[in-house]
Amino acid sequence: MRILITAGPTREYIDPVRFISNPSTGTLGFLIAERAKERGYDVIIIAGPCNIPQLKGIKVISVESALEMKNRVEENFQFVDVLIMTAAVSDWRPARVYKQKIKIKKEWNLKLVPNPDILQCISMGKKENQIVVGFALESKNILENAKKKLKKKKVDLIVANPVSNFGNTLKKTEMFLLFSDGRIKKVLCTKKHLAYLLLREVEILVSRKNRTV
Ligand code: C5P
Repeated sequence: MRILITAGPTREYIDPVRFISNPSTGTLGFLIAERAKERGYDVIIIAGPCNIPQLKGIKVISVESALEMKNRVEENFQFVDVLIMTAAVSDWRPARVYKQKIKIKKEWNLKLVPNPDILQCISMGKKENQIVVGFALESKNILENAKKKLKKKKVDLIVANPVSNFGNTLKKTEMFLLFSDGRIKKVLCTKKHLAYLLLREVEILVSRKNRTV
């Protein structure tokens, strides 16, 4: 099985020294990659800036912006069976990127434009036997919002977790696995255990698809 995983934040530059980003550490994506490698799969990670040491036998493609991540995902998706989008992609980017460091002393407005939804674009064009997994990080109405995202983004599985999970690696957190066939599984686990559970679910989805295609 070939698995493509995205991880970490994206950086949307305003000028050469400033950017918009978020506190994603990329930990979960790398834990899933490690687990997938242990299971004998071919793994590629497309990662925004994260401080995680290289993993033996795993190809890491480094990116910064959401647009860069989208290009790399599109190039690689056709060659894989599974895409797992753990990346915390910035929803917006500055409408204009200044070439020189901005020197504005007074109050000013920064215009932002929406970034494309990588997950949605990819799952729209996926082949029948490809599996796409997304994440939903929510500050309230976790299940309700995740259900909407599952439908809108047309993914096979979405993992819903609370924002308190950002940067947290050791603590157990309550999360929900929502499947496109309507099943919902509640889990209470660490990120490491989630990586294990998620891959098990992905393996089941892949074998079911291969039976029906
Ligand atoms: O930001 P949101 O909660 O909508 O993200 C849900 C899922 O969509 C995540 O898997 C994330 O990686 C993905 N996403 C994306 N492109 C964006 C925003 C989010 O692929 N522009």
